[in-house]
Amino acid sequence: MKETKFVTKTTNFSKNLHIDLVKKMLVFDEVNSTNITAKELAQAGAEEGTVVIARKQHHGRGRFDRIWQSPDGGVYLSIILQPKKSTENISLLPLVAALTVARTITLYGLHTTIKWPNDVQVNGKKIAGILLESEIRGHEVIYVVVGIGINLNIDRKDLSADIQPRSTSMFHELGSPVDYHEFLRTFFMQFDRIYSLFVDHKFQRIIDEWKIQTDTLGKTICVQTSTETLQGIAFDIDQSGFLLLRKENGEIKKILSGDCLY
Ligand code: BTN
Repeated sequence: MKETKFVTKTTNFSKNLHIDLVKKMLVFDEVNSTNITAKELAQAGAEEGTVVIARKQHHGRGRFDRIWQSPDGGVYLSIILQPKKSTENISLLPLVAALTVARTITLYGLHTTIKWPNDVQVNGKKIAGILLESEIRGHEVIYVVVGIGINLNIDRKDLSADIQPRSTSMFHELGSPVDYHEFLRTFFMQFDRIYSLFVDHKFQRIIDEWKIQTDTLGKTICVQTSTETLQGIAFDIDQSGFLLLRKENGEIKKILSGDCLY
């Protein structure tokens, strides 16, 4: 594994976690990207529930090939999933991840919203991001890596000036640091609960919970997809988690992924 030049530690925390989903946790001081390490592990046959977690990333990756700034104090983790080997419904996994993060942060008393598709925000500023990467052959899902970055105990000054105005952290919002291990424990308990809904095919429950947590629906938005820019009212999401947008001319667009501006 290429990332082994960095330090690996197994902490008591990972041994004592006792969460059904989490089968193995690899804890690093630093990696290039937990998603890259997790993909290498998945390609080498790592099982569902393998988690890669790092205190710092040198080349954290965001959506659309952006950089995810990853200074000390943040949570950077990737979870390997192998959901029933079928592509059916995997488009709901970003909702599972966003809901998990939003619910976890809400438990710390912060009003947390999801901006479609899966940005997690507090007071209208981004506090966490999610990047899913998968290998699919035909209709078979080989693996999905769910990468999550959360601005936990980050001082906003440690983020670059261009993203500071639209970013926040739990430290900034709460005015005091959050216990890292306690936060992870809460996070994995939520992930276990919400991913179980997915495994048990309770897809409507996931959609209903996501709708309670989002502030996108009902708004006039602008969406930049990989091919076009669309404007309209985000009026619903469908059973697969696609956004339903009503354009001014009445045309309905179903959108899987994009950048959303209010
Ligand atoms: C976004 O652009 O909003 C998604 C950011 C995802 C960042 C996380 S941090 C852990 C994992 N490893 C990465 O390199 N990226 C994801």
